[in-house]
Amino acid sequence: MSAAPRIVSLLNQKGGVGKTTTTVNLGAALAAAGQRTLLVDMDPQSNLSLHFGVEADEGRASSTALFSSEPPDIEACIVEGRPNLSFIPADTELALVEGELAGRQDVQTVLRDALARLRGRFDAILIDCPPGLGVLSVNALTASGEVFVPMQAQYLALRGLEKLLGTVQLVAAGLNPELVCSGVILCMHESLSSHGKAVVEEIRSHLEQFRTADVPWRDCRLLQPPIRRNVKLAEAPSFGKTIFDYDPRCPGADDYRRLAESVLAMWAERVAPAAERG
Ligand SMILES: Nc1ncnc2c1ncn2[C@@H]1O[C@H](COP(=O)(O)OP(=O)(O)OP(=O)(O)O)[C@@H](O)[C@H]1O
Ligand SMILES: [Mg+2]
Repeated sequence: MSAAPRIVSLLNQKGGVGKTTTTVNLGAALAAAGQRTLLVDMDPQSNLSLHFGVEADEGRASSTALFSSEPPDIEACIVEGRPNLSFIPADTELALVEGELAGRQDVQTVLRDALARLRGRFDAILIDCPPGLGVLSVNALTASGEVFVPMQAQYLALRGLEKLLGTVQLVAAGLNPELVCSGVILCMHESLSSHGKAVVEEIRSHLEQFRTADVPWRDCRLLQPPIRRNVKLAEAPSFGKTIFDYDPRCPGADDYRRLAESVLAMWAERVAPAAERG
């Protein structure tokens, strides 16, 4: 039987930290490394879709449709972006889902149930979460095996991380006991700042404290390398391109390629519990 895909939420309640940039370019790098990869846009801003030159609200099936009372087959929502790299776009209507679904029993598990129908189709599924820890992010966490946290090495970053890990713990304690937070990804990194270096150390030692604790982030690591600030990464989406289409030799492309190597090495080390069960 085919193995279950790795399903990863790219989560940070703070806006503008690099979630979408990382979902797209880590996803593209995983695809280039041979992983059949699906990206899911769970953000009503639909920025992920823009990276592929797809405008929101063009009448196509989107992640919003999955939450309707009569959802389409999830296959109908998938757009083939590049070889090995597909995505499910979002639209602005997704913002309404939160309010509309409040009373529905299965509200937290809609995405998990939809993705379950794709078993065998993909090796990796990356979910681009909106900024915030509401119903859409909880849906993503309920559907995921693990969480990557894109963040900056800045003042108060640790406080935001603690809050986020608290949400991961709540979901792991209830809806999804298999959920772990396995990686922090430093984005827009400026390695020369001494303040930045101090915050990186703070994050590292914070994570170290939990190595023997019974928490879903006990094995969380600072994934390597940090993604350097590189203007090409900010330019690429306005051309509807991933960094590998736009400028495959720039530092941003290099960093995401190496990040994908680290992620694949980590996955090889940690056999997924779901895959073990076959
Ligand atoms: N390494 C980088 N170097 C330069 N610019 C970057 C880098 N990473 C992201 N950006 C830019 O920073 C902005 C925020 O990034 P991004 O959209 O990925 O964040 P986000 O966390 O998804 O934001 P939101 O919470 O609004 O969804 C974007 O304009 C993006 O192009
Ligand atoms: Mg985003």
